[in-house]
Amino acid sequence: MSTKGSTQQSSPSPSPSHSPSLVEASSWGAGKLILFGEHAVVYGHPAVAVALSRGLEIHVCREVSPDANARVEARLSARGRLIDIEPPQSAALLTAFHEGLRWASERGLALSGVYEFTVAGALPFKVGLGSSAALSVASLRAIAKLHHHHFSDAELFEGALSMERVFHQNPSGLDHQVSIQGGALMFQRSTLAATLEGGGHAKGFTQRSLNIGKILHLVLSWTPREGSTADAVSGVAARRADSPSIYDTLFYEISEITKRGITAIESGDLYTLSALLNDNHQRLIKLGVSTPALNQSCERLLSLGALGAKMSGAGHGGTSFGLFESEARSQAAALSLQAGGHQALALSLH
Ligand code: MEV
Repeated sequence: MSTKGSTQQSSPSPSPSHSPSLVEASSWGAGKLILFGEHAVVYGHPAVAVALSRGLEIHVCREVSPDANARVEARLSARGRLIDIEPPQSAALLTAFHEGLRWASERGLALSGVYEFTVAGALPFKVGLGSSAALSVASLRAIAKLHHHHFSDAELFEGALSMERVFHQNPSGLDHQVSIQGGALMFQRSTLAATLEGGGHAKGFTQRSLNIGKILHLVLSWTPREGSTADAVSGVAARRADSPSIYDTLFYEISEITKRGITAIESGDLYTLSALLNDNHQRLIKLGVSTPALNQSCERLLSLGALGAKMSGAGHGGTSFGLFESEARSQAAALSLQAGGHQALALSLH
């Protein structure tokens, strides 16, 4: 289910020269599922995530002003997915789009006029599946395309990081890096980036693409989250400030689980992998980011035959997933969850 760098649709279309005119471009960014290491990754420990074949498509439509000195402005379109978004969130989206434009202009793109952003795509918002990262990556790609430009992966990482900071304050970079790279990724933030307050301007990390030794048949299930990623991350930071040794021990344990998880993923050892998913989930309960609803969702997945299950992402609601022995079992479990009124999706990672 690799999604590396895929973009869709349109090349920028030239427009008449005298009256205000439009040019437009679209691009796509993948969502993500964290298999191991969320939260610990913020503190410089390794994590593993996979890019999803579900993502967001951003369409940018530029209204060129006849006044060459007119201010560059972002506008949200009332079409597409944004129509479902509450005003406080749309304010954050608008700030993020402005930040993307500011960053692109700093990279030398000659921006001018009003840029209207439309969001489409099948990735659910605010459930821990990387919608803000997908949106950041897709919109920067679309802005570049509209200006006949191409950002390298390293530039995209930097630009998406500045947009993600609007949503998450101190993002590790994991979500948007896996969206940029596609496939399965081990990601570890540099110690400097992890220790600076708010991430500072340090952006170093190491990464490695992982080979999936045996197909992973997963079922994802999600409910709306209570609060934001920023709330969950700052809650962990506040509790860690009160009890550093407890939290640093938990992060260390998660880091060890993640390393063993990488070996199990690459060697195709589903049984060890499943036990490690369960272990990681227990540590996320101890970090205070899982909820009764997430724990019940994991129990439900296990009762439907999952070999292991865990919450994924920042927590406080959102997504949990189970690992199944075969596609037939994962499909049957997803159907059973859907029949019971739950949001569920079966997918296979190669
Ligand atoms: C959020 O998807 C993952 C967290 O680890 C935060 C981050 O990595 O920035 C909770």
